[in-house]
Amino acid sequence: MDVAISLLVLSSLSQLVAPQAATQIPFRPTVEVISGDVRIFSRETLRLGCSVPVSYKSGWTFWWFRGSEKLPQTGQNLTLWNVNLNESGKYSCQGLRDSLLGTRKTLKSLPVEIDVDGGWAMLQAPAHSVLVGETLKLTCHLRMRLPLHETILYKDGIEVVRQNGHSQDFYLTNATLLDEGMYSCRPSWDMRGRTHSVISVSTPVHVLEVLTRPLLEIENQSNFQRERRMKLICHVQYNTHGPAPPLYYYFYKANNRLGSASSNNYMWVRQAPGQYSCRATVPVLDLSRWSETRDFGSPQP
Ligand SMILES: *[C@@H]1O[C@H](CO)[C@@H](O)[C@H](O)[C@H]1NC(C)=O
Ligand SMILES: *[C@@H]1O[C@H](CO)[C@@H](O)[C@H](O)[C@H]1NC(C)=O
Ligand SMILES: *[C@@H]1O[C@H](CO)[C@@H](O)[C@H](O)[C@H]1NC(C)=O
Ligand SMILES: *[C@@H]1O[C@H](CO)[C@@H](O)[C@H](O)[C@H]1NC(C)=O
Repeated sequence: MDVAISLLVLSSLSQLVAPQAATQIPFRPTVEVISGDVRIFSRETLRLGCSVPVSYKSGWTFWWFRGSEKLPQTGQNLTLWNVNLNESGKYSCQGLRDSLLGTRKTLKSLPVEIDVDGGWAMLQAPAHSVLVGETLKLTCHLRMRLPLHETILYKDGIEVVRQNGHSQDFYLTNATLLDEGMYSCRPSWDMRGRTHSVISVSTPVHVLEVLTRPLLEIENQSNFQRERRMKLICHVQYNTHGPAPPLYYYFYKANNRLGSASSNNYMWVRQAPGQYSCRATVPVLDLSRWSETRDFGSPQP
């Protein structure tokens, strides 16, 4: 309802002010990598797509951006042929549709960073962070598709694994926070009786905990008239890929539970000195983490 009204207002204004005034479609498209990878060699080809709501398939044009620069292409899929080093950057897109009320635009997508590598070897790492316990897959590419002799993987400049033969893939199972770092690889190959090798530039790998240790915050609220209360807030970071199973919070005073499990990360309690803590759990994943205990209300120095 609100949208329709603001459209009418804007469209009558637009006749007075700017005939092309575009109104917003409250949808944020996403940029998808259709073929290629976010890290590619120069002179390779990459294709990106801009997603729009499935229920309105036709009548769209698209704007593509590299950083803040608008590109000339207007198709739903952006093909970058024979890429150049200067085509590295953050790509985003925006959809436009003509309607009776003028052109309407979606929000701009979040950017996808494309890294064009001019070297001879390249290490591809996951585009998103790896979660603790997952398997980290790293792939070492050589620009010339020659059979490899051996490939070495380095983390922060130190050799981690050495792999004989043609396989370009490294699998580091059961990732931990210590696996975070800058990775590079050195493939080697034999040609005319000699062994050659090149080293890639470093690629960052980020590792996140699924559930971080909670941090308990206590807000001492002094503005309640009848009963003085305080708010216990349990801060965690909860990282998943895809749908997140439910997360619950428990609050404790001197290790005695206050109330029942809640999907809210806060709880109001009567203002009282004591030892407070909280716990966050994801029962489906069998995860449970305690905060440190906080001492509330001990005499001020
Ligand atoms: C964009 O690419 C996707 C995936 O290859 C394809 O299904 C779609 O038809 C393409 N869109 C256009 C407008 O060519
Ligand atoms: C990128 O570099 C190539 C050759 O060096 C040049 O022809 C092209 O115009 C440049 N493109 C941009 C967007 O700067
Ligand atoms: C993964 O690592 C954790 C912590 O080091 C360990 O407790 C767990 O058993 C490991 N799991 C597997 C499948 O190796
Ligand atoms: C909390 O606030 C009350 C008054 O509003 C005050 O008397 C008390 O000292 C405060 N406690 C702490 C630990 O700040």
